[in-house]
Amino acid sequence: MNRAKNAPLTPITPVALQNISLAGRNTFGLPAIAELAYEITAPEQLPALMSEILTLGIPWRVLGGGSNVVLPATLPGATLLMNISGLTIGDCTDQSTTITAGAGENWHNFVAWTLAQNLPGLENLALIPGTVGAAPIQNIGAYGNEVSDCLDCVEAFDCKEQAFVTLSRQECCFAYRDSYFKQNPGRFIVTKVAFKLPKKWVPRLSYVNLTKQFAQTSAATPQAIFDAVCQIRSNKLPDPKVIGNAGSFFQNPIVTNSTYEKLLTEHPQLVSYPDANGTRKLAAGWLIDQCGFKGYRLGPAGVYEKQALVLVNHGGANATDILNLAQKIQMTVQESFGIELHVEPNIL
Ligand code: EPU
Repeated sequence: MNRAKNAPLTPITPVALQNISLAGRNTFGLPAIAELAYEITAPEQLPALMSEILTLGIPWRVLGGGSNVVLPATLPGATLLMNISGLTIGDCTDQSTTITAGAGENWHNFVAWTLAQNLPGLENLALIPGTVGAAPIQNIGAYGNEVSDCLDCVEAFDCKEQAFVTLSRQECCFAYRDSYFKQNPGRFIVTKVAFKLPKKWVPRLSYVNLTKQFAQTSAATPQAIFDAVCQIRSNKLPDPKVIGNAGSFFQNPIVTNSTYEKLLTEHPQLVSYPDANGTRKLAAGWLIDQCGFKGYRLGPAGVYEKQALVLVNHGGANATDILNLAQKIQMTVQESFGIELHVEPNIL
């Protein structure tokens, strides 16, 4: 981990905003009040602010786009609203182009910007909600691609060492929906992410819908893949502006090959994907669907009618409503298949 001295940068102390509603800043649309909120627009704000927060010993957390969280009614202590912006094109070699984005940039807008700059490579990750800074934390992935595939390094403030650090891709310890940041909660505040996009572009069409679409019709250009991914996502996943949700609510469970083979004997239709080292990834959406949950409602919380992996807020739900439904699904899947489902969003 490359440590930078805390440069004597212009100290800008962000103003503490009190009792701020976060209802519009979480895609579930849950009612939530932040006791103290700070707009973070520059990394230089972090050393003094975090020193104060850690000295006081108050709870704190970072909120990006709020697309992967379940917020409680009140968030005690400090909530850092990550708004660091900036998109830059850096080193360009025969092999690749390096680009960087501030942690507060909207992920989808960033992907669209890379294509407008004629820098393809991220098109399979179009329309994923949230911010650039949140992307490496859970190693966002979709349609045969993960953010770790072309990530170069991550700049962050290390609260433990009270210093800015740069973590290489290897140091980020990426795995399926996992990273060093996720394994060390409360330690790092991501400020900037750098990507290395290879000059030689290769379309990634392994995801079945993309394979089918491009086998029959148009040429697979980066823009055509971007458009196709946007269309597939819009057809299958609810738009948070219309119906509150946090994308997939459960991770696809990873089981040993022997557990998989036993399950397959009992459930020949089981949907799964090969995984590394003698393991198999099961489609959690299929397991939940088989238990009859698609379109199910429990109070104002529900299971999306087109994709059983997504829980939705039909209006007026709070964190307890969502978690009660999640628990019911976990218990039913456990009873039916003997499989434990792990929640994907952060429960704050
Ligand atoms: N399936 C069902 N019923 C359902 C949902 C799924 O039978 O209600 C079966 C289908 O056979 C389908 C298979 O499960 O072919 C897999 O479903 P899908 O292709 O929709 O992908 P997923 O495994 O449910 C994952 C990611 C998504 C990502 C898609 C596409 C996780 C937890 N989710 O979903 O990510 O967009 O693949 O690559 O890994 C997110 O994380 O928020 C997210 C949306």
